[in-house]
Amino acid sequence: MIRSHGCGKLNKANKGQKVTLAGWVDRRRDHGGLIFIDLRDRDGKVQVVFNPEISKSCHRTANQLRNEYVISTSGQVALRPPGTENKKLASGDVEVVADSIKILNESRTPPFYINEDSEIDENIRLKFRYLDLRRPHMMNNLLLRHRVIQFMRNYLDNIGFVDVETPILIKSTPEGARDYLVPSRIYPGKFYALPQSPQQLKQLLMVAGVEKYFQIAKCFRDEDTRADRQPEFTQLDIEMSFIDEEDILTLLEGLFTSLIETIKPDVNIVKPFARLDYAKSIELYGTDKPDLRFGMEIGELSDIAQQTDFAIFHDTLQNRGRVKGICVPGCAGYSRHQFNEINDIAKDAGAQGIITISLDSLGKSLDELTIGDIKSVAAKYLTIDQVRDMAISLGAKAGDLLLIIAGDNDLANTVLGKLRLELGYRLNLANPNKYSFVFIENFPLFEKSKESNYYQPMHHPFTSPREEDMKLLDSAPEKVFGRHYDLVLNGYEIAGGSIRIHKSDLQRKVFHLMGYSDNEVEQRFGHLLEAFNYGAPPHGGVAAGIDRILMLMAQEATIREVIPFPKNQNAVDVLFDAPSSVSEEQLAELNLLLRL
Ligand code: AMO
Repeated sequence: MIRSHGCGKLNKANKGQKVTLAGWVDRRRDHGGLIFIDLRDRDGKVQVVFNPEISKSCHRTANQLRNEYVISTSGQVALRPPGTENKKLASGDVEVVADSIKILNESRTPPFYINEDSEIDENIRLKFRYLDLRRPHMMNNLLLRHRVIQFMRNYLDNIGFVDVETPILIKSTPEGARDYLVPSRIYPGKFYALPQSPQQLKQLLMVAGVEKYFQIAKCFRDEDTRADRQPEFTQLDIEMSFIDEEDILTLLEGLFTSLIETIKPDVNIVKPFARLDYAKSIELYGTDKPDLRFGMEIGELSDIAQQTDFAIFHDTLQNRGRVKGICVPGCAGYSRHQFNEINDIAKDAGAQGIITISLDSLGKSLDELTIGDIKSVAAKYLTIDQVRDMAISLGAKAGDLLLIIAGDNDLANTVLGKLRLELGYRLNLANPNKYSFVFIENFPLFEKSKESNYYQPMHHPFTSPREEDMKLLDSAPEKVFGRHYDLVLNGYEIAGGSIRIHKSDLQRKVFHLMGYSDNEVEQRFGHLLEAFNYGAPPHGGVAAGIDRILMLMAQEATIREVIPFPKNQNAVDVLFDAPSSVSEEQLAELNLLLRL
């Protein structure tokens, strides 16, 4: 062994021991006669002192050290002189007084500081990802990832789940994105598709009798990248036989509660997990992934608006629109600049405009306000009672700001949902240490395609309709609800799943409603339909986005921070420079001709 101890693990208990350490020079300080270095390894850092009176040659070598040199060194652990302890370091009470040193490798000056958390261009970080990961903050994210995945494996293993690997070179497994295709050399003109998820494979495993399956699965989706989306990401994929919705929801609640309680014991999990209908979520929060850490719910104001003299309200209501609003607490005194920002957010979300009502308080209560205290373009068309009724509907008090959208219901929900989030975050209403989980239930099975007469599944084509809605499949498919559920955490969809169709005639019918011909169904999904004919058990499952869960646990703004080697925002692997061109020979071997 090149070393006897981890740097960050040394403490007072090691006093007097002779240790050998190895790691990277985090920092070097030359204090006249003495040279101090902070030596870093995966466990943390410790101070090493080179004193010429103890070893002249060591001191000479220490003089050549630069940041990121790799060394091994031996010496005795000593308590630091009183007053020089470093409370920020776990090993800050001690130092190692070196009597030998060996330089194992030199280092060029890195393109950014490893020893401090500074703002660095993301593409530079990704190009030198091995250095980026060396930074303690990123190393912690990597270790967190390991612990979370390890926890999931153990948890599921303990309750009888079997880890099964499924192939990456396969046929299209649609989840609503484009496929990544891999050309076959042996079969010219034919392609494999990388799985968008192991969906059909895990269903086939249920037909095989596995009953309880899980996998830490890589998924590939050719879609635009976002802060919480990567072309290649990792799911905790789960499937079970002989179960219903409650079994999966109970499993998820148990798994996530113990995961977070074990790994982040200091945070506050709201228990039991909330449950919300899809339609209610849209009405109250303008989204199917609501952040429930704070209120500011969207309220219906149409009835009150009907009684006012405000033409915009009347026109909207006449055109079957709605008047809705939210209350922004304590913001009646917003500046012109802040109102402009609100306007911009509303316009970006598709609104033509927004009506703001400031309930200027000047120390008054809501009951004491007069119309003169109200600042709004609409004030002259409203009575104080109408303003007060609106305020009460939105849970507002004097000193608050009301934001009102008059328009199409979907648009009003979307715009107010965006404003709620943006302003709630600016007002710090979302406590970062609070974990507010919510199951979203009762999704419609389909949404009507805008481009054609066909129906698109809200989740994926394998989701079962609700038993009581089967009869509507022929007459009114848009009214059918699916047995689909999502799990949302603090505004992010972290898992989605469903009870599946397990009979081929019903599965075929859903494909037909999606616009597939018999031929297409046979060609694309014949293998699955055939399997259903051999005693497929009723089954269902779920997949959780591991990268998103980690992003939230690590309090990072993007999933790229918790993926060891992510693609950048433009789907490029900057380290390997991929995608890249290939040689003429490779193209010829694959029988491909580029149309560039
Ligand atoms: P779904 O498509 O909802 O369901 O995906 C499940 C979860 O995976 C995460 N996720 C992503 N994370 C990062 N980048 C992406 N591009 C990305 N896309 C999805 C989300 C999401 O909730 N086969 C079904 C599951 C099932 O029905 O069992 C599926 O893949 O957190």
